[in-house]
Amino acid sequence: MKEQAKLGWERIEWAQAHMPLHAEIRSRFERERPFSGQRIGAALHLEAKTANLILTLHAGGAEMFVVGSNPLSTQDPIALALAEVEGITVAARHGEPEEERLRNIDLLVDFSPTLIVEDGGDVAWRLAERGAWGELLGICEETTTGVERLRALHQSGQLPVPAIAVNDAQMKYLFDNRYGTGQSTWDAIMRATNLLIAGKTVLIVGYGWCGKGLALRARGLGARVLVCEIDPVKAVEAAMEGFAPVELAAGMEEADFVVTATGKPGVVDEAALRHAKDGQLLANAGHFGYEIDRAALERLAQESFPARAGVTGYRFPDGRTVYLLGEGELVNLALGDGHPVEIMDISFALQALSLEHLIREGERPSPGVYPVPQEIDRRVAELVLNWLR
Ligand SMILES: NC(=O)c1ccc[n+]([C@@H]2O[C@H](COP(=O)([O-])OP(=O)(O)OC[C@H]3O[C@@H](n4cnc5c(N)ncnc54)[C@H](O)[C@@H]3O)[C@@H](O)[C@H]2O)c1
Repeated sequence: MKEQAKLGWERIEWAQAHMPLHAEIRSRFERERPFSGQRIGAALHLEAKTANLILTLHAGGAEMFVVGSNPLSTQDPIALALAEVEGITVAARHGEPEEERLRNIDLLVDFSPTLIVEDGGDVAWRLAERGAWGELLGICEETTTGVERLRALHQSGQLPVPAIAVNDAQMKYLFDNRYGTGQSTWDAIMRATNLLIAGKTVLIVGYGWCGKGLALRARGLGARVLVCEIDPVKAVEAAMEGFAPVELAAGMEEADFVVTATGKPGVVDEAALRHAKDGQLLANAGHFGYEIDRAALERLAQESFPARAGVTGYRFPDGRTVYLLGEGELVNLALGDGHPVEIMDISFALQALSLEHLIREGERPSPGVYPVPQEIDRRVAELVLNWLR
């Protein structure tokens, strides 16, 4: 345990050394203690960069309760390291079964947080189910999927607090979703497979902010890139960028690698899987592990087998084999270390400043889903320019 926690601290300190925005924000928080008396519930991908966000909020005076955002993205050394800090409670472990994850979310709700910072909207959803909003002052949400779920809660009259859509800040989606997902997803796929990308055909499903980065970096690695996108305007945009727009079935027949980033369930469904090219590798970069229909893969396959760590092979009766990476969960976190450190420094700076905004006296908005205030977006951009110049 101690050895594991030590490894966790090494990773946290490595990330910290490359997070200049956090260094600045943390030293101000230590002086001003803006979160003194606040209880912050965090549901995040528990790895080294996120640990630095948690430590920054803790340095600002908050008591923290931390759960994972996805069982496969939780890194045990990080969870154990954070649990050593007084005032930080961690309820998460790698590979925890779904029931355990839900129990941990309930423990977070029982902690009666005054602020929530999360990745995916599970806590907000659970608060609404239990009607346990307690003393909650507001929520900051990081992902496209989580923001959609918050908007759904708001539209059905079930969101009694203000929420800030951190995902929708320019300094978030233009960099985190595009360049962060673009780099870290290919990094994870290459680590997990040890295969060459150059000369291969890649199919990107969904040409949103993540899809744009995935396509761009695949081209940079020497792949021929096909794009399947249901929004015709974005499909034209992909074509004008030089990527071939295709229907899903046609793309499946040609692609050596398929990467999904739509945020929608069952996109690569049974009908699409029937068209899969022999040897195809399937990976998902979207928040939930439901974009590639795993149950359909199991139905279609005669047998499944572990091909490499994190890679499952599915052999079809006609002899074709396809490989699913990281059980179809978001691959850059399931099989890699997530986004590059500097990218998360930017995204988490938005989170920390947006949380501070939520509690500043006189500034708290009424219930609803709000954008990150423009002055925070600009302030973060200026901080980034300081270290880029
Ligand atoms: N892996 C990561 O680290 C990471 C980082 C940021 C966001 N995300 C997640 O990635 C997902 C996508 O995020 P985004 O910011 O790119 O969203 P986005 O809304 O910008 O893009 C999604 C795109 O998918 C398209 N789409 C939807 N259904 C489709 C279908 N059936 N076939 C083809 N295209 C379809 C949409 O038209 C849209 O263009 C979300 O789940 C988000 O939470 C993951």
